[in-house]
Amino acid sequence: MEGQWADRSHWGDWFPVRERILQDAELSDDTLLLVDISAGKGHDLLEFKEMFPDLLGRLVLEDLGSVVKAMGRDERFAENGIQMVSFDFFKEIQPVKDARVYYFKFVLHDWPDEEVKVILNNLKPAMKPG
Ligand SMILES: C[S@@+](CC[C@H](N)C(=O)[O-])C[C@H]1O[C@@H](n2cnc3c(N)ncnc32)[C@H](O)[C@@H]1O
Repeated sequence: MEGQWADRSHWGDWFPVRERILQDAELSDDTLLLVDISAGKGHDLLEFKEMFPDLLGRLVLEDLGSVVKAMGRDERFAENGIQMVSFDFFKEIQPVKDARVYYFKFVLHDWPDEEVKVILNNLKPAMKPG
């Protein structure tokens, strides 16, 4: 499975990131740019940073506490300024508020619709209109 995932192109290759996410936003170093919810090993965020090295704004990796703890040993995250946050999407309201992008990859398909509603309802209060 990991091999198959590694083979896929990054979403930054086909999604118009600059036009839809970076342009028209007043970005600064303090802006919360992208929260990768249930990021797993965080490869997606590291690659994103590599693809857009000039971008301003904070990147956040979220996952269950045990996963974040294991990831914390990997120095690449600190080196790239990626913040790590423990988060259980069933039990907590999204703690990182007003980010420009909340991103789920290979996550929602794992759960039945009723559980997905819980996950999305726990995200909703963190999002600001627009
Ligand atoms: C299939 S992996 C996807 C990982 C990553 N997004 C990727 O594309 O490689 C699913 C992720 O969901 C996380 N997860 C499972 N239950 C969770 C929960 N209750 N709260 C937050 N994350 C959870 C797992 O730890 C795992 O990292």
